[in-house]
Amino acid sequence: MKFFIDTANLAQIKEAADLGVLDGVTTNPSLMAKEGIKGKDNILKHYVDICHIVDGDVSAEVIATDFKGIVEEGEMLASLHENIVVKVPMIKDGVKALRYFTDKGIRTNCTLVFSPGQALLAAKAGATYVSPFIGRIDDVSSDGIQLIADMRLIYDNYGFETQILAASIRHAMHIIDCARLGADVATCPLSAILDLLKHPLTDIGLEKFLADAKK
Ligand code: G3P
Repeated sequence: MKFFIDTANLAQIKEAADLGVLDGVTTNPSLMAKEGIKGKDNILKHYVDICHIVDGDVSAEVIATDFKGIVEEGEMLASLHENIVVKVPMIKDGVKALRYFTDKGIRTNCTLVFSPGQALLAAKAGATYVSPFIGRIDDVSSDGIQLIADMRLIYDNYGFETQILAASIRHAMHIIDCARLGADVATCPLSAILDLLKHPLTDIGLEKFLADAKK
């Protein structure tokens, strides 16, 4: 399972990379705004800065919602660095653009996926990654993890190479459940990755080992 970090915060990206378990980064316009990154040039520079920290895929999201605009913006983003993956929304023109990018060898991440039908369509269009937003599904009293199970079944039934990139992860149990079901990637806040470290018996055990070592 690959671990991506879901943030545009350079310090958090560095911390996860230093841990030695980071395979990539996902961003979105909300995460860029949260870091105060404004204006086209600053945003593009920020993507390149992220690419210099992590040797792995970095998702950069288009803002355009029409086919021509998505294609122009996506090609520009892809030209920034070889590790950029163009993030495209699950809308009609987005699906058309996924096929266009796939045919041109540009890697993609289809975002805002909330149903098995959307996930099937994105895979048919050749998306490299598809991002089911499991936390937001849970937020509306539905079952985000069930979508991961449905996607795994559908993709395996037909041998789709599209990778399931579990997104909108809120806590460590989301990561564990996604790993159980065979999601290819989990994109997580740093806190959820660090929560995987925690177990009270580890703390108690270490305390005792260290105390015994002094005897
Ligand atoms: O990368 C997009 C996705 O992870 C969003 O998460 O927490 O805003 O639902 P969240």
